[in-house]
Amino acid sequence: MTVDPVADPRRRSTRLLVPLLPAVLLFAGCGDGDGGTLLPPELPDPARGEVAFIQSCGGCHSSHDGFDLAHFGFADSTVLRRAVAHVDTSTALDIIAHINDLGVSPVARDLRIFQPMGDPASGDVDLATALFGRDAWPDDWGEADLLEVDPVAVPWAVAFPVWSDEESNLDWMPDRPPPDVLLDTRGGLVRGALAGYTAAPTDDNLDRALLALRLVSHDRTSPVAPCAQTDDGALADPAECFEVTRWTASLAGQHVLREGLSFDGEVAGGTRAQDAFWDVGQAARRGLVKNRTPVDHAEDNWVSWMVLGWVFAPENHASGYTASGLARAGLPRHATFVALRSLAARRPGVHQPYSDLRTAAVRAPMGWLEPAMYTGLRTLEAREARGEGPNSALRREEAAEALEGAIVTLQRRMGLLGSASLVSRIRDLEGFDAGGE
Ligand code: HEC
Repeated sequence: MTVDPVADPRRRSTRLLVPLLPAVLLFAGCGDGDGGTLLPPELPDPARGEVAFIQSCGGCHSSHDGFDLAHFGFADSTVLRRAVAHVDTSTALDIIAHINDLGVSPVARDLRIFQPMGDPASGDVDLATALFGRDAWPDDWGEADLLEVDPVAVPWAVAFPVWSDEESNLDWMPDRPPPDVLLDTRGGLVRGALAGYTAAPTDDNLDRALLALRLVSHDRTSPVAPCAQTDDGALADPAECFEVTRWTASLAGQHVLREGLSFDGEVAGGTRAQDAFWDVGQAARRGLVKNRTPVDHAEDNWVSWMVLGWVFAPENHASGYTASGLARAGLPRHATFVALRSLAARRPGVHQPYSDLRTAAVRAPMGWLEPAMYTGLRTLEAREARGEGPNSALRREEAAEALEGAIVTLQRRMGLLGSASLVSRIRDLEGFDAGGE
């Protein structure tokens, strides 16, 4: 997270542009073919560059104004190299002038955005060591201990995506813009929402744009929605869904980056932004396990985007998806923590904490299973004692089903005898009684 000390964009602009000019002169000379009259080059014009960026780059680069390229401090030579794939050289120089004119002080370009503790931890055990001081789930942990852990203040052995990676798809930048059919469907809902956000980039307008993008890309009744699910959970077009959700995530990401590198789930648009990150992971997951036509690095994308969506809002989303991705990645301790930390964070009255208990029963490493289950049980009991158990017949039914699943899993993993006292505590939970109102 190093900040370039060269904060004055004008100085930076001059310093980096000058070495490029002779090359451009040469270029112009060759192209003219009139053997030698080198006209003085027209000076790069940031205003022209801004228009050109919107036209030729803004489709993929959701920042619309090039903020992302300035924020991650891509060298002028890199911008030139990438730009000439889309525009002529003199327009590329205009774009460089515009980006340098934005006055953004850059961060490291390989920054893993929002990565807790700055760098990924090296393995599963590192999380345990950070949480408990050793590789064991503590016997006496309860609700307060879980809630005390801030998920962004512990090391994750999950590498969050960088903004741009030319070698792989483990980055925020989508390979293509959202297709016109998506922008135009439903009377141009997305186009309108994006125009509104561009005109006034407020949290509320971001929220509207994210909502519009999610609606049109996931709408089950729409023939053009790439993330529409079939009944078996497969996606209409998993590759396109991955790109559209990444574009949506990058729109949310660049908004948050403009406001500084912290991420407060309370800001308007905050939850929707976290959902947008999560959706990328879900696109990667469904394409892999449901469609069986995975995008590249499907498992890494699944885990990193879901964890990214989760760390800021552990009360949201089904922990089972995140935890199964973590388990596949060889991180069962991370999976256990996600399940139980979610359990403690859930809103009163919902059934999800019971599913979280089942997730922990499935994912906890053998040596952690019993103490982790007791932590979960104590937390559920505390919730019920406060009257926060499932508050409708449907939710009680869901809770009971999840607890049945936990029981079956524990009996399979620990044996009937070994699981007996845990199982009887589970049967005592209010949520276990699916009786109607
Ligand atoms: C068709 C989509 C698309 C368009 C249009 C586009 N880009 Fe990009 N750009 C990308 C993607 C995708 C990346 C991420 C790296 C990758 O996957 O190659 C990227 C990355 C970059 C980078 C960082 C490269 C690095 O070293 O990591 C720069 C600089 C850049 N683009 C500049 C531009 C400029 C300037 C324009 C307009 C003249 C533009 N791009 C138009 C898709 C696009």
